[in-house]
Amino acid sequence: MEILDGKKISNQIKEEIAAEVAEMKERGEKVPHLAAIIVGNDGASMTYVNSKVRSCEKVGFESTLIRLPSTTSELELLKKIDQLNQDDDIDGFIVQLPLPEQIDTQKVIMAIDPDKDVDGFHPTNFGKMALDMSTFIPATPFGILELLERYNVETKGKHTVVIGRSHIVGRPMSILMGRKGWPGNSTVTLTHSHTKNITQIISQADIVISALGVPHFLKAEMVKDDAVVIDVGITRVPDESREKGYYLAGDVDFENVSKKASFITPVPGGVGPMTIAMLLKNTLLAREQHRGEI
Ligand code: GUN
Repeated sequence: MEILDGKKISNQIKEEIAAEVAEMKERGEKVPHLAAIIVGNDGASMTYVNSKVRSCEKVGFESTLIRLPSTTSELELLKKIDQLNQDDDIDGFIVQLPLPEQIDTQKVIMAIDPDKDVDGFHPTNFGKMALDMSTFIPATPFGILELLERYNVETKGKHTVVIGRSHIVGRPMSILMGRKGWPGNSTVTLTHSHTKNITQIISQADIVISALGVPHFLKAEMVKDDAVVIDVGITRVPDESREKGYYLAGDVDFENVSKKASFITPVPGGVGPMTIAMLLKNTLLAREQHRGEI
């Protein structure tokens, strides 16, 4: 069994990005600038966004964090998005999800300029991704592809079972694993809450990608020998004995599943850090595309 070490690979990617930014600076060019909007003060979302901003600083990007109160109206958020769309200094931006219930998430995503949509959530970018066109690939699926590539994991002709059909992970992942090329060329089953015989389907998987958010859902007896197991779940489980009052649990019973798997991602330290590295990569790409325009 080999660990797909997201922490190590994400650090490598950040070093590669930092080297490119240093060259940009040497040439006297503007460095990439990422902005992030967060609405409300959900603890997990704040942690993710702060981590994204800190990583920007680490690689030499500029970053702007925009904090809006949980009572922000849809119109106010749309105005902020328009400002960022118009601001030539900002190369890319994200609106951290989930949003408070008074705000229509799809409307917000539709308002983002696709050329600055470094999350790859806008329908234009999502459509391009599905059609094999060059675009921003959503950071978590992009990070999983990068892990598979850097660890030389064969995907061609394999049966990939994706658990969960969220717009952020499961749905794009199912498209990407079936695309032509590598990583890809795999036969994909996308499972969800209405899937019948889910355990039987998972037991046939060569590659399992779990993005369910149910701690320790995937047990050793559910996966076949030598399966590749990717755990996207990261749930805060209350635990008074911990300093923070919780611990982070993946979807996978790592201790037992790791004994059967050929490759497996840990939680934390697997997919999570890759998401941030790939967001930086998309922002660098946005800067490069932007440079050609102005
Ligand atoms: N919430 C959970 N994951 C993500 C992500 O990748 N991007 C944004 N914007 N929100 C998220």
